This record gives sequence, structure tokens and C-alpha cells, in this order.
Amino acid sequence: MPSTGLDPHLVRERFPALASGDVFFDGPGGSQMPAEVIDAMVAYMRGSNANLGGAFRTSEESDEVLERGRAAAADFTGSEPEEIAFGANMTTLNFQLAHAVARTLEPGDEIVVTDLDHDANVSPWLLVAADHDLVVREAPIRAEDGTLDAEALESLLGERTRVVAFTLASNALGSVTDAGRIAAAAARAGALAWADAVHLAPHRRLRRAELGIHVLLCSPYKFFGPHLGVAAIERSLAERLPADRVRPAAEWPPGHRFETGTQSHEAIAGATAAVDYLRSLGHGDLDAAFEGIRDHEESLSRRFLEGAAELPGLDLYGIADPARARERTPTFCFNLGDGDPRAVAAALGERGIYVWDGDYYALAPMRALGLSERGAVRAGFLHYTTEDEVDRLLVALGELAG
Ligand SMILES: Cc1ncc(COP(=O)(O)O)c(C=O)c1O
Repeated sequence: MPSTGLDPHLVRERFPALASGDVFFDGPGGSQMPAEVIDAMVAYMRGSNANLGGAFRTSEESDEVLERGRAAAADFTGSEPEEIAFGANMTTLNFQLAHAVARTLEPGDEIVVTDLDHDANVSPWLLVAADHDLVVREAPIRAEDGTLDAEALESLLGERTRVVAFTLASNALGSVTDAGRIAAAAARAGALAWADAVHLAPHRRLRRAELGIHVLLCSPYKFFGPHLGVAAIERSLAERLPADRVRPAAEWPPGHRFETGTQSHEAIAGATAAVDYLRSLGHGDLDAAFEGIRDHEESLSRRFLEGAAELPGLDLYGIADPARARERTPTFCFNLGDGDPRAVAAALGERGIYVWDGDYYALAPMRALGLSERGAVRAGFLHYTTEDEVDRLLVALGELAG
């Protein structure tokens, strides 16, 4: 698929928040929204606001909003509309789905989690393991470059493994996992492949079915939409998992069985517009859009890594070699000398550069890197980031290091 040659200056005009001149490097915590997403939400609330299934215009329009939302989420995740469940956020959906699958397991069955994951794909498994006498095994990361040790993960899989829960990319370190390899290993063991796509979603095309992933979770607020969660659940699994639901929902299509109560219709309208926005970057083609995004982000990563290597006292965790920029997302975790990450983030904030500090709920990666106590600064770029903004960060870090 030819790249679209994405020009961040053109896309920025579509994002009202970016006109402020502030530098939004808090993308891994949440992205900004283009005007068309905000407009879609407002239009729903102004003109179509109703509950579903009624015999009148606004209710029929609400039904259509849901239908379009499922189609968009299915296209975005590489799934079918019947396999989609919307929810409050990824964490809530994952607790609910982990609870459902645990009810089908036997004491002594095993779950594999990874040290690269955000806690939202670890704690649900620890809690259901305690409730159902399951065993949780943790796959390690390589401390030298913050990547998942896939061989070590494979060695943990055995005849009792029922779920392999892993992230597609680290929200702390930007490392991307080999999802096809992990899903294939899970399949060989007869286990479910359970992927957290939250961090990867704004950076790469998602391909749930093609990669053999059974459950894939993401959050539209990380990919230019509103606060909302999406689960894509492979049809036969969604059909057989027990779902906590009210009786009238018994006949719903498989994925929707995991939706409880009334959804945020306005957020679903916004998420649909976010997928449309992304498609527009590829002239109607999501594959092409993500080729353009990846190329642009790779060049930003290279620029940052080359500049960071010149900064005395900057300790970068994760892949630091500019030649490996394509293997990671443009999310960078670092400390400056013995500086307090919070103070560094605040000093950058005063310069209009918004970064995160702490552990970003990535408890296992921080523990593996010996950063549980101290934490680190995190700067995350998105496709609307410009080279000038990267340079602003490098200059500011240079000043703070000095
Ligand atoms: C990798 C990753 N997984 C899961 C989550 C949790 O997502 P949500 O806020 O939708 O529950 C986050 C949020 O930052 C994340 O970065």
C-alpha cells in the first residue's frame, strides 16, 4: 500500500485544541479530537438524542448511530460488527470479560500475563485467579531494550494454559510485540489470545481476526475519539462465554451480550467520526492511512532518539537505537539526571510542553526497570506531532539538563 505522505501541518488544522500552540505529548494518556468528532457528538445530542428501539425518528436515528458505530469499530479492529461490545473504557470491559472467561475455567488452569502490560491487562487476571484458584504466570521483558521476551513467554505455555493476555504495545516504553507469534503460540497451546490494543491503536492498523486474536480491547480516546471502550470478541467465544445481562438481552448478537445498560450514544457517534477521520488520512483507506502515520512517526522517533543521545544525563528506557525506530511507537520514557520526574514534567509544562510522569499504571514494566519508586517522564508523539515540536522538547530538556 503506497504511503499517503502524511503532512502533520495539514491535519493539525482539523484539531481545534492544537491551535493553542501547546505541545501535546500526553497522547499515550489521551489524544486530542478533530472538529469532525466533536461536531458528530454535538449533532447527536442536539438532533437525535434518544434511547434505542422506539417507533419514532430520534430513536431510529439512535439505532443507526449504534449500527454505524459497530461497523466502524469492526473495521478499525479487524472484526465483524456482531463481535463488538462498547463499554465505559477498556479496563471495565476487561474486568467483565476476564470474569466471564474465568467462570468457564477449572482450578489449576493457567493464565499467562506479561511484564510489558498496563495493569488493566494484569489486575483483572490476578483477581479472577484468586477467585477461581487459577495460576498466573508472568512473561518477562528484556531490561536492556524494554521489549517482551517472546521466547520466555512461549516457554511458559503448557497444557493448562487457557489465556495468554498480552499488550500489542507498551504505553510506557513504546515497544511493539510480535502479536502474530504470540497468538500462534497461544493457539498451539489451545489457549485464548487476549490483546490490549489501547496503546497501539493510534499508531498501527489493528488486525484481530487475521492474527488469530480472540479478544482485542481498545479505547477511542487514545485514537482521536471520545472517552469510551471497545472490545472485539471472536464470535464463537462471545457466543459461549457466560455474560451478566438482563433477560431481554438474551437474544442479542454475540459481542453485544457484554454490553450492560444504555451506552454513551454520543461517544459512539464520536468514535465513528474518529474512524472516518483516520480513513480520510488514507483517502478512504485505513491501511493507507496507517502507512502514512507509521512513516511520519518513525521519522519523529528517529529525530528524537538522535537528539536524546546528545543530551548529557538523559537516561532513556526502551529501544534507544534510531535505526530501530520502526520497531517502536513514538512513546519515550526517560529520566533526567537524578531529577524528580514530576518536577521535570512540571518544568516542561511551564514551557507549554505536556508530558506525563509516574508509572502510567504500567506497574510491571516499571518494576522490571527498577523504576517502581521513582517513576519516569513520558513523552508520546502522535501523527499530528511536528518536527518543530520534537525540537522544542529536545531544547527544553537540554536547558533542564544544564
Ligand atoms: C496500554 C493501556 N492499556 C489499558 C489502558 C486502560 O484504558 P482505559 O482508560 O480505557 O480503561 C491504558 C490507559 O492508559 C493503556 O495505556
